[in-house]
Amino acid sequence: MKKGNVAVLLSGRGSNFAAIVRSSRADGADFTVRLAVSDCGEAAGLKKAARFGIPAHHIDPALFPGKAAYETRLCELLEREKIDLVCLAGYMRLVGPVLLGRFPGRILNIHPALLPSFPGLDAQAQALRHGVKVSGCTVHFVDSGTDTGAIIAQQAVAVRSGDDVERLSRRILRQEHILYPRVISMFFAGRLQIAGRTVIISE
Ligand code: GAR
Repeated sequence: MKKGNVAVLLSGRGSNFAAIVRSSRADGADFTVRLAVSDCGEAAGLKKAARFGIPAHHIDPALFPGKAAYETRLCELLEREKIDLVCLAGYMRLVGPVLLGRFPGRILNIHPALLPSFPGLDAQAQALRHGVKVSGCTVHFVDSGTDTGAIIAQQAVAVRSGDDVERLSRRILRQEHILYPRVISMFFAGRLQIAGRTVIISE
């Protein structure tokens, strides 16, 4: 069986990246993580990639005249490695038309809230400020908006009395690490079908 090639784009810590790599190395996994790319040179995720022996690249957007040129360079790298699926994992940039156009229906993101509630930055703090009793995480296809693409899977996490951002984030993150690799496997098993805004998951 030919395994799917995954690239992970990240801007920071890279714990989802690590969870995806671990799952790709489990018996029977149907995908391989071919590379990690960060827009931020100091991202801890790049060091994690080195420890896993996965090629890690820093592409600095500031060195390009605009998003289109930056994403063109990024796409050259992704295409050179024959990437089938691009996974955003704490990648803190809006995806532009160049990347979207080259990987239509092949870019996923994970967000630490139950979308469409609390998109954008500091989702866990937004949820706590709002006083919700349940939050969680969402994996969705990426479109040109901020966390607006078709939802694939969600995992609820109860908000406990006395939760602060750190505690809630930690419990949500544990679920992110389970949910994201599962969805990637579903993608490569051909189980995801997009019908408008709805993603149908076949058995
Ligand atoms: C994760 O909680 C992820 O859901 C979130 O950033 C964190 C990255 O952690 N992403 C967003 O908020 C995107 N809107 P990680 O670098 O340890 O995977």
